[in-house]
Amino acid sequence: MTATSVAAVLALVPLVQSMQPLAVPPLPAPMRPLQWGQINFLHTTDTHGWHAGHLQESQYSADWGDYISFADHMRRRADDMGVDLLLVDTGDRVEGNGLYDASDPKGLYTYDIFRQQSIDVICSGNHELYQADTADREHHLTVPNFAGHYLASNLDYIDPVTGEQMPMSRKRYRTFQTKHQKLNIVAFGFLFNFTGNAANSVVQPVQQTVREPWFQYAISKEPVDLFVVIGHVGARMGELRAIYQAIRAVNPDTPIALFAGHAHVRDAVHFDDKAAAIASGRYFETIGWMSVSGVGHAQNAAVQDTAPIEFARRYIDNNLLGLYYHSGTNATTFPTDHGMNVTATIATARSNLNLEVSYGCAPQNYWLQRRPHTDPSSVFSLLRERILPEAIVRADRANVPRIVIINTGAMRFDIFRGAFTRDTTFIVSPFISLVRYIPDVPFALARQVLSILNSQGPILSAMAENTTVALANTRPGATDWREMCVPEQYSMRMENGRVSTHFGSDDASHQKPLTDQRAAVKDGADKDDTTRPPLVAGYTTQDDFGQDGDDAIHEPLPHYRLPNCIQAEVNFLAADLANASATKEPETVDLVFFDFIQRFVLAALAYIERSGSATAPVGMPYRHYTDADVESYVQGKFTDHFAEWVKQNWNDEC
Ligand SMILES: *[C@@H]1O[C@H](CO)[C@@H](O)[C@H](O)[C@H]1NC(C)=O
Ligand SMILES: *[C@@H]1O[C@H](CO)[C@@H](O)[C@H](O)[C@H]1NC(C)=O
Ligand SMILES: *[C@@H]1O[C@H](CO)[C@@H](O)[C@H](O)[C@H]1NC(C)=O
Ligand SMILES: *[C@@H]1O[C@H](CO)[C@@H](O)[C@H](O)[C@H]1NC(C)=O
Ligand SMILES: *[C@@H]1O[C@H](CO)[C@@H](O)[C@H](O)[C@H]1NC(C)=O
Repeated sequence: MTATSVAAVLALVPLVQSMQPLAVPPLPAPMRPLQWGQINFLHTTDTHGWHAGHLQESQYSADWGDYISFADHMRRRADDMGVDLLLVDTGDRVEGNGLYDASDPKGLYTYDIFRQQSIDVICSGNHELYQADTADREHHLTVPNFAGHYLASNLDYIDPVTGEQMPMSRKRYRTFQTKHQKLNIVAFGFLFNFTGNAANSVVQPVQQTVREPWFQYAISKEPVDLFVVIGHVGARMGELRAIYQAIRAVNPDTPIALFAGHAHVRDAVHFDDKAAAIASGRYFETIGWMSVSGVGHAQNAAVQDTAPIEFARRYIDNNLLGLYYHSGTNATTFPTDHGMNVTATIATARSNLNLEVSYGCAPQNYWLQRRPHTDPSSVFSLLRERILPEAIVRADRANVPRIVIINTGAMRFDIFRGAFTRDTTFIVSPFISLVRYIPDVPFALARQVLSILNSQGPILSAMAENTTVALANTRPGATDWREMCVPEQYSMRMENGRVSTHFGSDDASHQKPLTDQRAAVKDGADKDDTTRPPLVAGYTTQDDFGQDGDDAIHEPLPHYRLPNCIQAEVNFLAADLANASATKEPETVDLVFFDFIQRFVLAALAYIERSGSATAPVGMPYRHYTDADVESYVQGKFTDHFAEWVKQNWNDEC
């Protein structure tokens, strides 16, 4: 063999059995170390089926098997130091990646993969509850897989046979003593006031749960050195604060460590000197780290008096090189047998599910939030200009003018230049979005719907107040308009506990303030300029504890806000939508939308009608639209039409 062919063969034989075989190799970054405390936590949240890691993104390309190896090394380090390490997960493990969504039934492989990690406190997210079969699997698979550790403080399950309502998990809360420090822990597992759940689950509003006798007993009678509150709740959402306040009301001095999710952001919130929350991102990009020191034994007041409580936090990139760094290992010593087994199981599952099958080749990157939604390289421009007009067509009304409205939250990820695979379809839009329409809506009415759906605050709040009138068939409470947008933005809107009003649809140019990169580099990192690797773009988090949270120092990424909804106008050749006095407007249009926003669209129509802000064309009085006026527009899920479009339009080889 020549030297060249030897090198080629070696390149095909992976030196380490970490990561997925097709994942891009990790890149090094300047690192900040973890600060260990008396009790330490690793936190995952909103993994949404990304347990194979991000095969196309070098910063996050480790997989769930690698996390298992990592946790084993970290437990050993904790043992060596005589401190404690706990693992927590705050839900939304399902929906969002082919590894979960592509199988029938869904999650055929992921429940077994996920359970291989040993997790001390775990709870449900809202995505475990949208579909009845998902909630069934939660009750029959995940709860027993994490028996005794799965906490359902405000979540019940309804047995489909007996109709009996019972806690989703036997445990509303958990008390235990830690291995080394012998700290008494009282732990809870909450879900925010979610209302979109399937009928076989019941979510009790948080403010009600904290008044339950069992909760009051748990916070006042159980021996406790540290409260651990995990929740599928944004760190700045009112529900988390309500839990904190309920505990604080009867425990003025006991430290509280809170673990938040749902909002898909890295964040940490300082509640008081003895209470802090961490939120650990999304999609298995991030493994959150929190440590607490100065936790005294409640029985031993002397210890408590002398040591102040200290919290530290880090957002660990799911990057193999970083995992080596934090665990004091290298490529040889890192992978454990168990971790490698899980990595191999994931690779087999991906292969069985044909996730690598390519439907076409994306000619460029299309970004979800790294560009304004009107920019040519935004996912939403692609949708507005090509996919909605060309892929969502009803044969018998193909030439009828139509307005197609979709909520931006129906899209969840970027499209990278290169192979658009079966996996990509689930990643970009993991929802079972059905396409519906109301035929022949007066254009004067239909043209106003988008701006109503995108008006922030006052109109939507007023609409929500009137929803029982407008939406007689809708369950009360199921009208939280914030659900239309991506969760990342939900959290921004809720900043400081109130809905911010300045994120309008026209506000695309408003950019989130960026971290000063040089300041971040100076702050606590390796200062040797000659050895520091070049910065890779990634998270530059600012939270209540400062700018030094990310373990890897990144170059900042731009981030733009999104409107709740966008629309495509189709067959408007003669009309000029931007010009109200143009004469060739269609008289009526088909108003097409995703089933998810049906209730909002009907509410908007009712609002326009009531407010009299549209003048009805002569001979065409407005009518009150209800669910009965809505029909199916095309058969099948939106993602299937999207995939079909990719096959026909991006059919090049990559
Ligand atoms: C949760 O729901 C309850 C009952 O509907 C309500 O009173 C409370 O304000 C809600 N909390 C938040 C933070 O939305
Ligand atoms: C990893 O560390 C071990 C023990 O310290 C050492 O023997 C080995 O050569 C190292 N491997 C690599 C790839 O650096
Ligand atoms: C790895 O998988 C093999 C085959 O399934 C099994 O025999 C072995 O016990 C596993 N090892 C670990 C450490 O999980
Ligand atoms: C809400 O409904 C009431 C009673 O029908 C009506 O008077 C009011 O104008 C409505 N508000 C909005 C914002 O539509
Ligand atoms: C709007 O349409 C009217 C009628 O067709 C036309 O006279 C006018 O110039 C248009 N205005 C703009 C800004 O295009």
